[in-house]
Amino acid sequence: MTQPKKLFVKTYGCQMNVYDSERMTDALGVSGYVATDTPDDADMILLNTCHIREKAAEKIYSELGRYKPFKAAKPDLKIGVAGCVAQAEGAEIIRRQPMVDLVVGPQAYHRLPEMEQAAGKGSKQVDTDFPEEDKFDHLPRGPKARRGPSAFLTVQEGCDKFCAFCVVPYTRGAEVSRTVDQIMAEARDLVERGVVEINLLGQNVNAWHGEKDGAEWGLAQLIRELASIDALKRIRFTTSHPNDMDDDLIAAHGDVEKLMPYLHLPVQSGSDKILKAMNRKHTAAQYLKLIERIRAARPDIALSGDFIVGFPGETEADFEATMALCEQVRYGQAFSFKYSPRPGTPAADRAHVEEAEKSARLARLQELLARHQREFQESMVGKVLPVLLEKPGRLEGQMVGKSEFLHAVHMQADPALKGQIVQARILYSERNSLAGEIV
Ligand code: SAH
Ligand code: SF4
Ligand code: F3S
Repeated sequence: MTQPKKLFVKTYGCQMNVYDSERMTDALGVSGYVATDTPDDADMILLNTCHIREKAAEKIYSELGRYKPFKAAKPDLKIGVAGCVAQAEGAEIIRRQPMVDLVVGPQAYHRLPEMEQAAGKGSKQVDTDFPEEDKFDHLPRGPKARRGPSAFLTVQEGCDKFCAFCVVPYTRGAEVSRTVDQIMAEARDLVERGVVEINLLGQNVNAWHGEKDGAEWGLAQLIRELASIDALKRIRFTTSHPNDMDDDLIAAHGDVEKLMPYLHLPVQSGSDKILKAMNRKHTAAQYLKLIERIRAARPDIALSGDFIVGFPGETEADFEATMALCEQVRYGQAFSFKYSPRPGTPAADRAHVEEAEKSARLARLQELLARHQREFQESMVGKVLPVLLEKPGRLEGQMVGKSEFLHAVHMQADPALKGQIVQARILYSERNSLAGEIV
């Protein structure tokens, strides 16, 4: 047998990139590659990139620069760039870094094995097409390896919403839903490999729609179907758009036991003027009303969100509206960013808020969000919660798992309990995690 070749994949960006990296690793596994966690002895280096905020492309070029000596030492080392920077920059990447062998956009991953082969014969490869066929049908699965307890499963990809700040509709293309049968087959396969929690992924996951036996399905129905897989214990989904939260999905949070009480529902801003300028197509009041309905269905749900501060035209009063919305919602967790102009998006050419002002606002918002997060974590102390044990913890004899609310929980536990849901009493709250003990 020939020696397996080593593949080093470095993943940036969102969870979908994490999922795509797994699928690309599987696909290249069929071509004889095994994953390695260092570039030092790799036969192929693949960067799976993100373009969501500024300097992403520059970061990739400097990362590529680091690999120059590797290529010099091992001329048949292959270097590939995948993901959203690959989609946005295309052949430009090879022009600026001629040592790159292949550039592959997110909708062309099914071509990766043949591109890798052609690159091996010295031909530079660039594919940033948006083909008609479903790439997932063509991505080989590789051998049935055991998996960790929790896995991602992409059900929807791309976006038709065109928020004024966002590159995703350009890098991922139009909204596409995978079929019920494809998703169920993949879910069953994951469960057979030891997975007990599935996190359904999509850029707008709640825009997922499908059809089964002539009936139209929405995401809630898909979740109910997944819940019928006995050995599957937990279901999550991310990321949702407020305008696609339909009644059935809200109801599912109340009546599907396996659906975890955690919802990432970005609002970006609390100001109607800014929401309009962002093309989000809803108001702050509509969002708050939606939160109210979700909480009526599932009172203890943990909410999470994304925020952009310093969007073009944001005044102090607009920013205060965002702070006020956060006070009202009290997110369990939230992510906030300074607005970053993206070439080619509508907002990029508008008058920008000054950098110092953006930084000051971000600091204020993050302080508030961190306080709410801390308070939410502290409210867990003393409770007994089901925790899915996932991997060894930081300290000897420890395991770390996830609560239903997505908190990381550390505790003393037998490594054999990996993949089990244990009842744990929460002892205290740390900065970004909880400490517990099995009861
Ligand atoms: N589909 C998701 C968001 C995907 S991008 C949604 O509609 O909510 C993840 C987050 O990155 C966004 O929610 C937004 O907060 C942030 N983001 C996107 N573009 C950005 C930009 N140009 N500048 C700063 N933050 C941005
Ligand atoms: Fe980007 Fe808006 Fe689409 Fe989310 S909904 S991916 S923020 S364009
Ligand atoms: Fe980044 Fe592309 Fe995801 S831009 S956030 S990797 S969809």
